Amino acid sequence: MFFRLMYQIVLPIYVIFVIFSSITLERSQNNILIILLGILFITCNYLERIYLRYFIYISTIEIIALLLFHFTTQLNWCYSIYIILLSKFLFHIKGVVKGIFLGFVLITFYTVIRISYTPGNSYSILAIGSDYLTSLAVVLIIQYIIEMERKKNYLIEEKKREELHYKEEKNKLLAEMAAGLAHEIKNPLTIIQGFLQHSKEHDYNIQPWYDLIQGEVSRMNKLTVEFLQFSKPMVSLYQTYSIHECLKKVISLTESKVISSGHKIVYTEYNPHLFVSMDFDKIVQVFVNLINNAMESMVENGDITIRLLNVENKAVVEVSDMGVGIRETDLKKIFSPFYTTKSEGTGLGLSICQKIIQDHGGTIDATSILKQGTSFTICFPLDSVHEQ
Ligand SMILES: Nc1ncnc2c1ncn2[C@@H]1O[C@H](COP(=O)(O)OP(=O)(O)O)[C@@H](O)[C@H]1O
Ligand SMILES: [Mg+2]
Repeated sequence: MFFRLMYQIVLPIYVIFVIFSSITLERSQNNILIILLGILFITCNYLERIYLRYFIYISTIEIIALLLFHFTTQLNWCYSIYIILLSKFLFHIKGVVKGIFLGFVLITFYTVIRISYTPGNSYSILAIGSDYLTSLAVVLIIQYIIEMERKKNYLIEEKKREELHYKEEKNKLLAEMAAGLAHEIKNPLTIIQGFLQHSKEHDYNIQPWYDLIQGEVSRMNKLTVEFLQFSKPMVSLYQTYSIHECLKKVISLTESKVISSGHKIVYTEYNPHLFVSMDFDKIVQVFVNLINNAMESMVENGDITIRLLNVENKAVVEVSDMGVGIRETDLKKIFSPFYTTKSEGTGLGLSICQKIIQDHGGTIDATSILKQGTSFTICFPLDSVHEQ
Protein backbone atom coordinates (compact mmCIF):
# COMPACT_ATOMS: atom_id res chain seq x y z
CA MET A 1 0.00 0.00 0.00
CA PHE A 2 2.70 2.50 1.06
CA PHE A 3 5.01 1.29 -1.65
CA ARG A 4 2.30 1.67 -4.25
CA LEU A 5 1.75 5.21 -2.99
CA MET A 6 5.44 5.85 -3.42
CA TYR A 7 5.67 4.44 -6.98
CA GLN A 8 2.36 5.73 -8.32
CA ILE A 9 2.19 9.15 -6.66
CA VAL A 10 5.47 10.24 -5.07
CA LEU A 11 7.73 9.14 -7.91
CA PRO A 12 5.81 11.01 -10.69
CA ILE A 13 5.59 14.10 -8.47
CA TYR A 14 9.31 13.90 -7.88
CA VAL A 15 9.99 13.67 -11.62
CA ILE A 16 7.81 16.74 -12.25
CA PHE A 17 9.66 18.52 -9.46
CA VAL A 18 13.05 17.73 -11.02
CA ILE A 19 11.83 18.94 -14.45
CA PHE A 20 10.57 22.15 -12.87
CA SER A 21 13.80 22.69 -10.92
CA SER A 22 16.03 21.97 -13.86
CA ILE A 23 14.15 24.44 -16.07
CA THR A 24 14.01 27.08 -13.33
CA LEU A 25 17.71 26.73 -12.51
CA GLU A 26 18.46 26.76 -16.24
CA ARG A 27 20.36 23.49 -15.97
CA SER A 28 18.45 21.87 -18.77
CA GLN A 29 19.85 22.01 -22.27
CA ASN A 30 16.57 21.16 -23.93
CA ASN A 31 13.32 21.86 -22.11
CA ILE A 32 11.10 19.97 -24.53
CA LEU A 33 13.33 16.90 -24.43
CA ILE A 34 13.41 16.88 -20.68
CA ILE A 35 9.59 16.98 -20.52
CA LEU A 36 9.28 14.22 -23.11
CA LEU A 37 11.76 12.02 -21.26
CA GLY A 38 9.94 12.69 -18.00
CA ILE A 39 6.65 11.64 -19.60
CA LEU A 40 8.26 8.52 -21.08
CA PHE A 41 9.67 7.57 -17.69
CA ILE A 42 6.35 8.08 -15.85
CA THR A 43 4.46 6.20 -18.58
CA CYS A 44 6.81 3.23 -18.27
CA ASN A 45 6.34 3.37 -14.53
CA TYR A 46 2.57 2.90 -14.97
CA LEU A 47 2.72 0.45 -17.86
CA GLU A 48 4.94 -1.87 -15.83
CA ARG A 49 2.08 -2.48 -13.45
CA ILE A 50 -0.45 -3.13 -16.20
CA TYR A 51 1.69 -5.30 -18.49
CA LEU A 52 3.53 -7.40 -15.95
CA ARG A 53 4.42 -9.91 -18.65
CA TYR A 54 6.57 -7.32 -20.41
CA PHE A 55 8.10 -6.05 -17.21
CA ILE A 56 11.65 -6.66 -18.30
CA TYR A 57 11.27 -4.72 -21.60
CA ILE A 58 9.34 -1.84 -20.10
CA SER A 59 11.78 -1.51 -17.22
CA THR A 60 14.72 -1.47 -19.65
CA ILE A 61 13.11 1.45 -21.51
CA GLU A 62 12.40 3.03 -18.12
CA ILE A 63 16.07 2.85 -17.11
CA ILE A 64 17.22 4.28 -20.44
CA ALA A 65 14.63 7.09 -20.11
CA LEU A 66 15.94 7.83 -16.62
CA LEU A 67 19.56 7.94 -17.73
CA LEU A 68 18.73 10.37 -20.56
CA PHE A 69 16.46 12.33 -18.23
CA HIS A 70 19.25 12.63 -15.67
CA PHE A 71 21.73 13.62 -18.34
CA THR A 72 19.39 16.31 -19.67
CA THR A 73 18.34 17.74 -16.29
CA GLN A 74 21.90 17.77 -14.97
CA LEU A 75 20.61 17.61 -11.43
CA ASN A 76 22.00 15.33 -8.71
CA TRP A 77 18.51 15.15 -7.23
CA CYS A 78 17.82 12.46 -9.79
CA TYR A 79 19.64 10.18 -7.34
CA SER A 80 16.39 9.78 -5.39
CA ILE A 81 14.65 8.59 -8.56
CA TYR A 82 17.37 5.94 -9.06
CA ILE A 83 16.91 4.80 -5.48
CA ILE A 84 13.11 4.60 -5.73
CA LEU A 85 13.45 2.70 -9.01
CA LEU A 86 15.98 0.37 -7.43
CA SER A 87 13.63 -0.33 -4.50
CA LYS A 88 10.84 -1.14 -6.98
CA PHE A 89 12.98 -3.60 -8.94
CA LEU A 90 14.04 -5.31 -5.74
CA PHE A 91 10.47 -6.56 -5.31
CA HIS A 92 10.77 -8.38 -8.62
CA ILE A 93 14.13 -10.06 -8.18
CA LYS A 94 15.08 -12.68 -5.65
CA GLY A 95 18.19 -12.69 -3.52
CA VAL A 96 20.40 -10.14 -1.81
CA VAL A 97 23.34 -10.67 -4.17
CA LYS A 98 21.27 -9.89 -7.27
CA GLY A 99 19.85 -6.86 -5.46
CA ILE A 100 23.30 -5.55 -4.57
CA PHE A 101 24.47 -6.11 -8.14
CA LEU A 102 21.50 -4.20 -9.57
CA GLY A 103 22.11 -1.36 -7.08
CA PHE A 104 25.77 -1.30 -8.10
CA VAL A 105 24.89 -1.10 -11.82
CA LEU A 106 22.31 1.68 -11.36
CA ILE A 107 24.58 3.76 -9.14
CA THR A 108 27.44 3.29 -11.62
CA PHE A 109 25.22 4.71 -14.39
CA TYR A 110 24.24 7.54 -12.10
CA THR A 111 27.88 8.27 -11.21
CA VAL A 112 29.07 8.28 -14.81
CA ILE A 113 26.34 10.75 -15.80
CA ARG A 114 26.95 12.92 -12.73
CA ILE A 115 30.67 13.11 -13.40
CA SER A 116 29.88 14.22 -16.96
CA TYR A 117 28.46 17.52 -15.73
CA THR A 118 30.14 18.12 -12.34
CA PRO A 119 33.73 19.19 -11.78
CA GLY A 120 35.94 16.33 -10.64
CA ASN A 121 37.08 17.42 -7.18
CA SER A 122 37.56 15.46 -3.94
CA TYR A 123 33.97 16.20 -2.84
CA SER A 124 32.66 14.67 -6.02
CA ILE A 125 34.82 11.57 -5.60
CA LEU A 126 33.83 11.06 -1.96
CA ALA A 127 30.19 11.48 -2.95
CA ILE A 128 30.56 8.33 -5.08
CA GLY A 129 31.29 6.32 -1.94
CA SER A 130 28.29 7.78 -0.19
CA ASP A 131 26.06 6.97 -3.18
CA TYR A 132 27.13 3.33 -3.29
CA LEU A 133 26.70 2.91 0.45
CA THR A 134 23.22 4.44 0.31
CA SER A 135 22.20 2.03 -2.44
CA LEU A 136 23.58 -0.86 -0.39
CA ALA A 137 21.53 0.25 2.62
CA VAL A 138 18.40 0.50 0.47
CA VAL A 139 18.92 -3.00 -0.89
CA LEU A 140 19.30 -4.43 2.61
CA ILE A 141 16.27 -2.59 4.00
CA ILE A 142 14.04 -3.64 1.11
CA GLN A 143 15.26 -7.23 1.30
CA TYR A 144 14.43 -7.21 5.00
CA ILE A 145 10.92 -5.90 4.29
CA ILE A 146 10.41 -8.49 1.54
CA GLU A 147 11.56 -11.25 3.87
CA MET A 148 9.21 -10.10 6.64
CA GLU A 149 6.35 -9.86 4.18
CA ARG A 150 7.09 -13.36 2.89
CA LYS A 151 7.13 -14.77 6.43
CA LYS A 152 3.90 -12.98 7.31
CA ASN A 153 2.16 -14.31 4.19
CA TYR A 154 3.44 -17.78 4.92
CA LEU A 155 2.04 -17.65 8.46
CA ILE A 156 -1.31 -16.37 7.21
CA GLU A 157 -1.44 -19.16 4.63
CA GLU A 158 -0.46 -21.70 7.24
CA LYS A 159 -3.21 -20.51 9.56
CA LYS A 160 -5.76 -20.68 6.76
CA ARG A 161 -4.64 -24.20 5.90
CA GLU A 162 -4.89 -25.24 9.53
CA GLU A 163 -8.38 -23.76 9.89
CA LEU A 164 -9.48 -25.55 6.76
CA HIS A 165 -8.00 -28.77 8.04
CA TYR A 166 -9.84 -28.45 11.36
CA LYS A 167 -13.05 -27.66 9.53
CA GLU A 168 -12.64 -30.70 7.33
CA GLU A 169 -11.85 -32.90 10.31
CA LYS A 170 -14.85 -31.60 12.18
CA ASN A 171 -17.11 -32.12 9.17
CA LYS A 172 -15.80 -35.64 8.76
CA LEU A 173 -16.44 -36.39 12.41
CA LEU A 174 -19.85 -34.74 12.19
CA ALA A 175 -20.81 -36.87 9.23
CA GLU A 176 -19.57 -39.96 11.05
CA MET A 177 -21.48 -38.97 14.16
CA ALA A 178 -24.65 -38.11 12.25
CA ALA A 179 -24.60 -41.56 10.63
CA GLY A 180 -23.98 -43.14 14.02
CA LEU A 181 -26.68 -41.08 15.63
CA ALA A 182 -29.24 -42.14 13.05
CA HIS A 183 -28.24 -45.74 13.67
CA GLU A 184 -28.42 -45.33 17.46
CA ILE A 185 -31.83 -43.73 17.33
CA LYS A 186 -33.28 -46.15 14.81
CA ASN A 187 -33.24 -49.16 17.18
CA PRO A 188 -35.16 -47.62 20.09
CA LEU A 189 -37.55 -46.00 17.63
CA THR A 190 -38.29 -49.34 16.03
CA ILE A 191 -38.91 -50.87 19.44
CA ILE A 192 -41.25 -48.06 20.50
CA GLN A 193 -43.04 -48.16 17.18
CA GLY A 194 -43.52 -51.92 17.58
CA PHE A 195 -45.06 -51.45 21.02
CA LEU A 196 -47.39 -48.71 19.81
CA GLN A 197 -48.53 -50.69 16.80
CA HIS A 198 -49.10 -53.80 18.87
CA SER A 199 -51.04 -51.80 21.42
CA LYS A 200 -53.13 -50.07 18.74
CA GLU A 201 -53.94 -53.15 16.68
CA HIS A 202 -54.37 -55.76 19.41
CA ASP A 203 -55.29 -53.57 22.30
CA TYR A 204 -52.10 -54.73 23.96
CA ASN A 205 -51.43 -53.26 27.40
CA ILE A 206 -48.02 -51.61 27.27
CA GLN A 207 -48.13 -50.29 30.79
CA PRO A 208 -45.55 -52.81 32.08
CA TRP A 209 -43.20 -51.49 29.39
CA TYR A 210 -43.55 -47.83 30.28
CA ASP A 211 -40.19 -47.70 32.06
CA LEU A 212 -38.40 -49.35 29.18
CA ILE A 213 -40.01 -47.03 26.65
CA GLN A 214 -39.26 -44.01 28.80
CA GLY A 215 -35.66 -45.15 29.19
CA GLU A 216 -35.27 -45.44 25.43
CA VAL A 217 -36.84 -42.03 24.86
CA SER A 218 -34.58 -40.37 27.42
CA ARG A 219 -31.55 -42.07 25.87
CA MET A 220 -32.50 -40.70 22.46
CA ASN A 221 -32.97 -37.32 24.05
CA LYS A 222 -29.56 -37.50 25.68
CA LEU A 223 -27.99 -38.52 22.38
CA THR A 224 -29.52 -35.62 20.47
CA VAL A 225 -28.65 -33.11 23.20
CA GLU A 226 -25.01 -34.17 23.22
CA PHE A 227 -24.87 -34.29 19.44
CA LEU A 228 -26.34 -30.79 19.16
CA GLN A 229 -23.83 -29.52 21.69
CA PHE A 230 -21.07 -30.80 19.50
CA SER A 231 -22.44 -29.82 16.13
CA LYS A 232 -23.45 -26.28 16.99
CA PRO A 233 -21.17 -23.82 15.26
CA MET A 234 -18.09 -23.15 17.25
CA VAL A 235 -18.36 -19.52 18.24
CA SER A 236 -14.87 -18.49 19.08
CA LEU A 237 -14.90 -17.21 22.60
CA TYR A 238 -11.21 -17.65 23.11
CA GLN A 239 -9.75 -15.64 25.94
CA THR A 240 -6.87 -16.13 28.26
CA TYR A 241 -7.83 -17.83 31.51
CA SER A 242 -6.02 -19.45 34.35
CA ILE A 243 -6.45 -23.22 34.13
CA HIS A 244 -6.46 -23.31 37.92
CA GLU A 245 -9.54 -21.04 37.99
CA CYS A 246 -11.19 -23.25 35.39
CA LEU A 247 -10.54 -26.39 37.46
CA LYS A 248 -11.86 -24.69 40.61
CA LYS A 249 -15.07 -23.96 38.73
CA VAL A 250 -15.28 -27.58 37.55
CA ILE A 251 -14.82 -28.83 41.11
CA SER A 252 -17.48 -26.48 42.47
CA LEU A 253 -19.89 -27.78 39.82
CA THR A 254 -19.24 -31.48 40.37
CA GLU A 255 -18.22 -31.83 44.02
CA SER A 256 -21.67 -32.26 45.55
CA LYS A 257 -22.51 -35.06 43.11
CA VAL A 258 -19.13 -36.70 43.70
CA ILE A 259 -19.53 -36.57 47.48
CA SER A 260 -23.11 -37.84 47.40
CA SER A 261 -21.87 -40.80 45.35
CA GLY A 262 -19.42 -41.55 48.16
CA HIS A 263 -16.29 -40.35 46.34
CA LYS A 264 -13.86 -37.52 46.87
CA ILE A 265 -12.03 -35.03 44.66
CA VAL A 266 -8.40 -34.49 45.56
CA TYR A 267 -6.91 -31.33 44.11
CA THR A 268 -3.81 -30.46 46.05
CA GLU A 269 -1.08 -30.48 43.46
CA TYR A 270 -1.42 -27.53 41.16
CA ASN A 271 0.45 -24.66 39.59
CA PRO A 272 -1.82 -21.58 39.76
CA HIS A 273 0.18 -19.59 37.19
CA LEU A 274 -0.69 -21.46 34.02
CA PHE A 275 -2.68 -19.44 31.51
CA VAL A 276 -4.26 -20.83 28.39
CA SER A 277 -6.21 -19.23 25.57
CA MET A 278 -9.53 -21.04 25.73
CA ASP A 279 -13.27 -21.15 25.40
CA PHE A 280 -13.86 -21.34 29.15
CA ASP A 281 -17.27 -23.05 29.07
CA LYS A 282 -16.12 -25.69 26.63
CA ILE A 283 -13.09 -26.59 28.74
CA VAL A 284 -15.31 -26.75 31.83
CA GLN A 285 -17.53 -29.14 29.83
CA VAL A 286 -14.48 -31.33 29.08
CA PHE A 287 -13.46 -31.69 32.71
CA VAL A 288 -17.03 -32.22 33.91
CA ASN A 289 -17.27 -35.05 31.35
CA LEU A 290 -14.04 -36.61 32.62
CA ILE A 291 -15.14 -36.37 36.24
CA ASN A 292 -18.51 -37.92 35.39
CA ASN A 293 -16.76 -40.82 33.67
CA ALA A 294 -14.41 -41.19 36.62
CA MET A 295 -17.36 -41.27 39.01
CA GLU A 296 -19.19 -43.81 36.90
CA SER A 297 -16.13 -46.04 36.78
CA MET A 298 -15.83 -46.38 40.56
CA VAL A 299 -18.03 -49.02 42.12
CA GLU A 300 -16.56 -48.55 45.55
CA ASN A 301 -15.77 -45.25 47.20
CA GLY A 302 -12.67 -43.74 45.72
CA ASP A 303 -10.68 -40.63 44.96
CA ILE A 304 -10.68 -38.57 41.80
CA THR A 305 -7.28 -36.94 41.75
CA ILE A 306 -6.67 -33.84 39.67
CA ARG A 307 -3.18 -32.49 39.14
CA LEU A 308 -2.18 -29.35 37.25
CA LEU A 309 1.46 -29.09 36.23
CA ASN A 310 3.76 -27.19 33.94
CA VAL A 311 5.58 -29.79 31.86
CA GLU A 312 7.92 -28.62 29.11
CA ASN A 313 6.11 -25.32 28.79
CA LYS A 314 2.70 -26.91 28.52
CA ALA A 315 -0.18 -26.85 30.96
CA VAL A 316 -0.81 -30.48 31.82
CA VAL A 317 -3.93 -31.62 33.64
CA GLU A 318 -4.25 -35.16 34.92
CA VAL A 319 -7.59 -36.60 35.98
CA SER A 320 -7.17 -40.00 37.63
CA ASP A 321 -9.67 -42.34 39.23
CA MET A 322 -9.60 -45.58 41.19
CA GLY A 323 -12.22 -47.22 39.03
CA VAL A 324 -12.57 -50.42 37.07
CA GLY A 325 -10.07 -49.37 34.44
CA ILE A 326 -10.10 -49.97 30.69
CA ARG A 327 -8.76 -52.98 28.87
CA GLU A 328 -5.73 -52.30 26.67
CA THR A 329 -7.67 -53.28 23.53
CA ASP A 330 -10.58 -50.97 24.44
CA LEU A 331 -8.35 -47.96 25.18
CA LYS A 332 -8.09 -47.28 21.43
CA LYS A 333 -11.86 -47.12 21.07
CA ILE A 334 -12.85 -44.81 23.89
CA PHE A 335 -12.52 -41.62 21.81
CA SER A 336 -14.64 -43.01 18.96
CA PRO A 337 -18.15 -41.59 18.78
CA PHE A 338 -20.82 -43.95 20.19
CA TYR A 339 -18.38 -46.29 21.82
CA THR A 340 -19.84 -47.04 25.22
CA THR A 341 -19.84 -49.87 27.71
CA LYS A 342 -22.65 -48.37 29.77
CA SER A 343 -26.30 -49.28 29.38
CA GLU A 344 -27.25 -45.62 29.79
CA GLY A 345 -24.22 -44.26 27.94
CA THR A 346 -24.15 -42.34 24.69
CA GLY A 347 -20.48 -42.83 23.89
CA LEU A 348 -20.24 -39.20 22.80
CA GLY A 349 -18.59 -37.71 25.90
CA LEU A 350 -14.95 -38.50 25.15
CA SER A 351 -15.17 -37.86 21.41
CA ILE A 352 -16.56 -34.42 22.16
CA CYS A 353 -13.82 -33.84 24.76
CA GLN A 354 -11.16 -34.81 22.25
CA LYS A 355 -12.57 -32.49 19.59
CA ILE A 356 -12.69 -29.54 22.00
CA ILE A 357 -9.13 -30.15 23.19
CA GLN A 358 -7.89 -30.44 19.60
CA ASP A 359 -9.64 -27.18 18.73
CA HIS A 360 -7.52 -25.63 21.50
CA GLY A 361 -4.34 -27.01 19.97
CA GLY A 362 -4.00 -29.53 22.77
CA THR A 363 -3.95 -33.30 23.21
CA ILE A 364 -5.82 -35.80 25.37
CA ASP A 365 -4.56 -39.29 26.18
CA ALA A 366 -5.58 -42.05 28.52
CA THR A 367 -3.70 -44.73 30.39
CA SER A 368 -5.36 -47.39 32.47
CA ILE A 369 -4.72 -50.40 34.66
CA LEU A 370 -7.60 -52.85 35.00
CA LYS A 371 -9.22 -52.81 38.43
CA GLN A 372 -6.88 -50.05 39.57
CA GLY A 373 -7.99 -47.01 37.66
CA THR A 374 -7.70 -44.74 34.68
CA SER A 375 -5.80 -41.55 34.13
CA PHE A 376 -6.53 -38.92 31.49
CA THR A 377 -3.77 -36.47 30.58
CA ILE A 378 -4.64 -33.24 28.82
CA CYS A 379 -1.93 -30.93 27.48
CA PHE A 380 -2.61 -27.33 26.51
CA PRO A 381 -0.21 -24.93 24.83
CA LEU A 382 0.48 -22.10 27.25
CA ASP A 383 -0.63 -18.62 26.33
CA SER A 384 2.51 -16.90 25.07
CA VAL A 385 1.74 -13.56 26.80
CA HIS A 386 1.53 -15.14 30.22
CA GLU A 387 4.26 -17.70 29.68
CA GLN A 388 6.73 -17.72 32.52
N1 LIG B 1 -12.60 -43.02 33.72
C1 LIG B 1 -12.97 -44.10 33.04
N2 LIG B 1 -12.78 -45.35 33.57
C2 LIG B 1 -13.14 -46.42 32.86
N3 LIG B 1 -13.67 -46.41 31.63
C3 LIG B 1 -13.87 -45.21 31.06
C4 LIG B 1 -13.53 -44.01 31.72
N4 LIG B 1 -13.83 -42.98 30.91
C5 LIG B 1 -14.34 -43.52 29.80
N5 LIG B 1 -14.38 -44.85 29.89
C6 LIG B 1 -14.85 -45.79 28.84
O1 LIG B 1 -15.01 -45.07 27.63
C7 LIG B 1 -16.35 -45.20 27.16
C8 LIG B 1 -16.75 -43.94 26.43
O2 LIG B 1 -16.90 -42.85 27.32
P1 LIG B 1 -17.76 -41.61 26.90
O3 LIG B 1 -17.34 -41.21 25.54
O4 LIG B 1 -17.68 -40.61 27.96
O5 LIG B 1 -19.22 -42.18 26.76
P2 LIG B 1 -20.20 -42.69 27.86
O6 LIG B 1 -19.74 -42.15 29.18
O7 LIG B 1 -21.52 -42.17 27.45
O8 LIG B 1 -20.12 -44.19 27.78
C9 LIG B 1 -17.16 -45.49 28.39
O9 LIG B 1 -18.35 -46.17 28.08
C10 LIG B 1 -16.20 -46.36 29.19
O10 LIG B 1 -16.23 -47.68 28.74
MG1 LIG C 1 -19.21 -40.16 29.52
